[in-house]
Amino acid sequence: MEILEEIKNTDSLEKLEELRVGLFGKKGSLAAEFARLKDIPPAEKKEFAANLNEKKALLQNALDERFEFLKSAQMEQKLKSEYIDVSLYNRLTKNGALHPVMETMEKIIDYFVALNFSIEDGPMVEDDFHNFEALNLPKHHPARDMQDTFYFNDGSLLRTHTSPVQIRTMMQSKPPIRIIAPGSVFRRDYDLTHTPMFHQVEGLVVDDKGKISFANLKHILTDFLQHMFGEVDVRFRPSFFPFTEPSAEVDISCVFCKGDGCRVCSHTGWLEVLGCGIVDPNVFKAVGYKDVSGYAFGLGVERFAMLMHAIPDLRSLFEGDNRLLEQFR
Ligand code: DAH
Repeated sequence: MEILEEIKNTDSLEKLEELRVGLFGKKGSLAAEFARLKDIPPAEKKEFAANLNEKKALLQNALDERFEFLKSAQMEQKLKSEYIDVSLYNRLTKNGALHPVMETMEKIIDYFVALNFSIEDGPMVEDDFHNFEALNLPKHHPARDMQDTFYFNDGSLLRTHTSPVQIRTMMQSKPPIRIIAPGSVFRRDYDLTHTPMFHQVEGLVVDDKGKISFANLKHILTDFLQHMFGEVDVRFRPSFFPFTEPSAEVDISCVFCKGDGCRVCSHTGWLEVLGCGIVDPNVFKAVGYKDVSGYAFGLGVERFAMLMHAIPDLRSLFEGDNRLLEQFR
């Protein structure tokens, strides 16, 4: 039978379906042949019908076989075209990472949070009262020259330090207070070690009169700095800040030369890393606190990051250059 050959040679499921409809459809050739049955003389009817049924079975068989064959060939084709080589190396994989300044900030925060300090926030656009006046820096006080400030026309300013958060916290709550205040600060400054925006973490602890001493401050900051920088020596140098009395600047032994003297520490063997002191009574007066004692400290996060990662130019941290940032992943 020619049609059997045709079925065997069909190369697509669509063509096979056409053939099937041509044979088995309502108007197909088999239907026509069965229709002829009624015109066949009774004597030949039996044989005619038997032949026709055999033919029908043969054709059905051939169609089924071809269908299976084409179907599995199609599946194979599909599997081949959708093949995924799971062993292929993905060259685009790149994990992000925290910016070194944020990573340093988190390490600082983690230390104090573990000691039950809570985290306070304050506005970056501050007013004169919170940024200066309440911190014992009255108008025309020469200490205001220490900070070059960005002022707005209405007299408000970009905070020059995180210390105003001390004031806001004390005015909003009662002692005891145990907070750190991390955040961005702004100064008109630009060189190897200064950018107009940088980050500070402020600390403030206030409790009843007589409960907070300089010894407490010394102990916690020494432990903190050794947590950050490893086995370093820590020394407290008398200094001046308007909002603390007495005040100190804190040095660590140089992390680069281990105290022998090098360019980074200007051959002193020491690196200054933060300021601190016992809260000045005038600050407590400004926020209406009586019969309390407290200590405070403030540090620059970028300076910590530079010393921890030996970064020579602070400005490079803010240029968004991936070649630099990738070194800290
Ligand atoms: N606010 C100071 C600054 O920006 C840092 C500082 C020094 C904060 C001593 C303090 C402190 O709380 O007690 O340079």
